[in-house]
Amino acid sequence: MGRKKRNKRIVENVLVTGIAEKGLSVGRSAEGEVFFIEDAVPGDVVNVVVIRKKKNHSLCRVVTTVTYSEERTTPFCKHFYHCGGCKWQNLKYDSQTKYKFIKIVNAMRRIGKMDTEGIIHTVRYSKDIRYYRNKLEFTFSDKRWLTPEEIENEGFIESEPALGFHRPSSFNKVLNLEECHLQNDLSNDIRNHLRDFCVAKQLSFYNPYTHECMMRNIVVRNTLEGDWMLLVVFGKDDMKKIKLVMEEMKEKFPFITSLMYTVNPKFNDTIYDLEVHCYHGKPYIVEKLGDIRYKIGPKSFFQTNSEGAKILFDYVVEYAGFQGKENVYDLYTGLGSIALYIASKVKQVTGIEEIPEAIDDARVNCDFNQIHNAEFYAGDVKDILNQDFVEKHGKPDVIITDPPRAGMSEKVIETLLAVAAPKIVYVSCNPDTQARDCLLLSEKYQVVKMQPVDMFPHTNHIENVALLVLKQ
Ligand SMILES: C[S@@+](CC[C@H](N)C(=O)[O-])C[C@H]1O[C@@H](n2cnc3c(N)ncnc32)[C@H](O)[C@@H]1O
Repeated sequence: MGRKKRNKRIVENVLVTGIAEKGLSVGRSAEGEVFFIEDAVPGDVVNVVVIRKKKNHSLCRVVTTVTYSEERTTPFCKHFYHCGGCKWQNLKYDSQTKYKFIKIVNAMRRIGKMDTEGIIHTVRYSKDIRYYRNKLEFTFSDKRWLTPEEIENEGFIESEPALGFHRPSSFNKVLNLEECHLQNDLSNDIRNHLRDFCVAKQLSFYNPYTHECMMRNIVVRNTLEGDWMLLVVFGKDDMKKIKLVMEEMKEKFPFITSLMYTVNPKFNDTIYDLEVHCYHGKPYIVEKLGDIRYKIGPKSFFQTNSEGAKILFDYVVEYAGFQGKENVYDLYTGLGSIALYIASKVKQVTGIEEIPEAIDDARVNCDFNQIHNAEFYAGDVKDILNQDFVEKHGKPDVIITDPPRAGMSEKVIETLLAVAAPKIVYVSCNPDTQARDCLLLSEKYQVVKMQPVDMFPHTNHIENVALLVLKQ
């Protein structure tokens, strides 16, 4: 028995007023009903079809655009309408930063119950709005994803292999990329040449259902110092074919300073439990932020916008107001990027991070920079940071915290309130959880100022640095 086709609800003349997560926009009907809308920008007036009704809003798609917003601009990437990577290329950069600012203000007012007047500074723009990323990952697929237009207009299409990005929220659909404006253009040359070479040599591309393949994925990284890393992930330990590919890349791209490979026959994509081999060059690349040089290995996490990271860290230094005598804790330290950056400006810094390999990197980088006043601990902040830890390391003058999107746990907040450091510098990539944590900390702390830093143009992501000072 066929399913009864229900008439979809159409709502007309919805004014798009703001932005939401995942590239969606927010609009309201004349009656005040809230819609999250795909493929619209603030200022548009649209007729929409409701795809899903949720508790407080409906998810919608544009049927027709009645009037186009003046904040629109022409997307520069040929893949814009299908990629999902830079959802806001159709919004002018000034407007992107305006809406990111509004997002922070709203979060601090609604969730943080904060009087934001004079506290939140305007967004610090990204130095580059293209080619700002230092790391991209591309996936091989034995069948490229076909666009709806291709399916509609071209009838039968021979399936072709692909190397590119996964479609949003899709494990089995890969968009074959010809260009990407996120990383230095040489990244495009590497990816496109490798795909063409592997096709010519008839090497098999990944199939997400059988997990069978020779070619699985690649990671391309580069640094402001001019280093390049290519990590090729093969599906089979076939040394003859591995050598064929690696020799080609070595010959064709002599600027790659770290040519690495690994073999991943597993069902999942993670490389953390795999041995990574250095085929040619060094097993790491070097990034330099300020006076600090960071060794970055194939498994290391590093901020993906190096210029932006330096700007962010400089605000941390400014907000902390270091005089050279401070005892500092750096919570959620990663590979110690902030801890090492500030080490020469303080007396002592202690970093905590849950990934042991990142802490190994932090220690390597400590030696690499001949830093003698930084210590690092691997473990969950909520377990490591306690009264014993504070007794051992001394009461901190400043606590820097840079938690993941979920923010800090209640236990960590309780510890911060008990420790009562004179200053907390809170770096966050999620204004909602930052606002929630600031509210919890408001029992003892006053938010003095905030600086949003845009590190991810054309996306809805924004970093925000906050200075919290212990109330008298
Ligand atoms: C936003 S990143 C910040 C990294 C670092 N501050 C930097 O600038 O490169 C958050 C870090 O927190 C770590 N992390 C997440 N949850 C944690 C926890 N409960 N305890 C310790 N570290 C955690 C993650 O592994 C990640 O390295």
